[in-house]
Amino acid sequence: MPYRVLFITAEYAPLAKTGGLADVSTALTRYLHRRGDDVRVFMPYYRQVADAGLAPWPVEFLQDLEMTLGEHHYRYRVLTGTAPGSDLPLYFIDCPALYDHPAIYAETDDEARRFLLLTRAALECTQRMGFAPHILHCNDWHTAFGPLLLKTTYAWDQLFAATRSVLTIHNVGYQGVFGAAHATELGLGDASWLLHQEDLAAGRINTLLHGIRYADLVTTVSPTYAREICTPEYGAGLDGFLRARGDRLVGILNGVDYEEWDPATDPYLPARFDAANLAGKAAVRRALAARVGLSVSDGALLIGLVSRLVSQKGIDLMVAVLPELVRRGDCALVAIGTGESRYEDFFAGLALEFPARVFFHRGYSEELAHWVEAGADAFLMPSQYEPCGLNQMYSLRYGTVPIVRRTGGLADSVLHYSRDDGTGTGIVFDQYEAASLRWALDYAIRLHGEPAHWSRLVANAMRQDYSWTRQGALYVDQYARLVGPA
Ligand code: ADP
Ligand code: GLC
Repeated sequence: MPYRVLFITAEYAPLAKTGGLADVSTALTRYLHRRGDDVRVFMPYYRQVADAGLAPWPVEFLQDLEMTLGEHHYRYRVLTGTAPGSDLPLYFIDCPALYDHPAIYAETDDEARRFLLLTRAALECTQRMGFAPHILHCNDWHTAFGPLLLKTTYAWDQLFAATRSVLTIHNVGYQGVFGAAHATELGLGDASWLLHQEDLAAGRINTLLHGIRYADLVTTVSPTYAREICTPEYGAGLDGFLRARGDRLVGILNGVDYEEWDPATDPYLPARFDAANLAGKAAVRRALAARVGLSVSDGALLIGLVSRLVSQKGIDLMVAVLPELVRRGDCALVAIGTGESRYEDFFAGLALEFPARVFFHRGYSEELAHWVEAGADAFLMPSQYEPCGLNQMYSLRYGTVPIVRRTGGLADSVLHYSRDDGTGTGIVFDQYEAASLRWALDYAIRLHGEPAHWSRLVANAMRQDYSWTRQGALYVDQYARLVGPA
């Protein structure tokens, strides 16, 4: 029995992506689809999806639909199409009043309704399609009301009698907290008492919290993060609710889509390589340096960074450590990212001060991200917290040594290199302190200067396998736990 899965997400690569949620939504659903499961993905028809040239077609019986959220009335319709390179069906909720906006996330007054409408529309379209999902799979705060709605507003429908809900938390730091007035938009009626009453009394409603409470299963994207978010230090205020779920909170490390991220086949690169032939990596390194105007000798450590520039990613540590290191002259940096302006300004300033050793691209570039992954010697990811992190796993495959802090998925995917026995796949430090990052970078520079160790480290890294064939199977195990074997 293949599973029928209703998968609702705010991001889907490459159509609508701000971070790893998009990569994971795509790779996990493709894995399930290939396995033979009937997966239906619902996402908003954002302006950038409309502009992507997909040419989706209207679903005939899902036109001229209406939804009322509190005092707001919306009209929407559903388009369907397949993502580039796949025949997996995507269903787009086309509601221009909410989604015809320049960015994926809006920070406008209607942000709560943008994703509540997505969640409810997905459930209502499922009803109209007569699609009885075994699993309702929601992701992050955006769709976290799904489980509660399933247990209340839509519970009358026999179609959902056997449906069990999964909420995957990709980042507990984003919770979708809105004013309590939004509660009426859920349309729960008599079931409103199921909402967190103290929060409402305090004037707010926390979307993610309700997913954590009411999903039949909560997953998050690495085993270490699953443990961490049960502590006050990492739980962002929700640790008590997470602890209360006991063994219904499970950590599953994300996988890597090696069709997208493999140096042997990567179409973005000027040269290709694999573990047995690293000449191509040296060629990409040279091409990258030339492209961005850096002069890096073979001996200097070329450090790469591709990141959302937010405090989660440990940028404050870089601010404290990188200037002196670059000044010293034994490393160079190529960084791409967008985010908080203070961080963007830091990298822009560093590039201005050291034009031959630091390059910064303020923006988002898929192509440059691939060049950096392939051309750099080491990849910097000293996150304060990291639910999973994908770039460190891409780096492993590209022989680009990850320098990471031991937290979340970084702890689960990178093993510290030991000079004593030559084991390990990267450089790992513990404390979230500038001195620890300085130590890690010094260790990287030192190892890089010892070719026997460095080659061993690179070879160890490139041997790692974090494919979705392994990780996806763990989701299937959890589906089986909820609804029985496939
Ligand atoms: P997060 O989801 O917290 O941002 P992840 O490591 O899980 O972190 O995923 C980040 C994804 O976004 C990776 O695929 C990474 O390559 C991509 N990414 C982030 N910033 C940029 C950028 N400026 N340009 C291109 N890709 C980026
Ligand atoms: C979030 C996390 C990141 C994770 C990604 C995909 O954005 O910050 O660590 O890899 O989701 O699950």
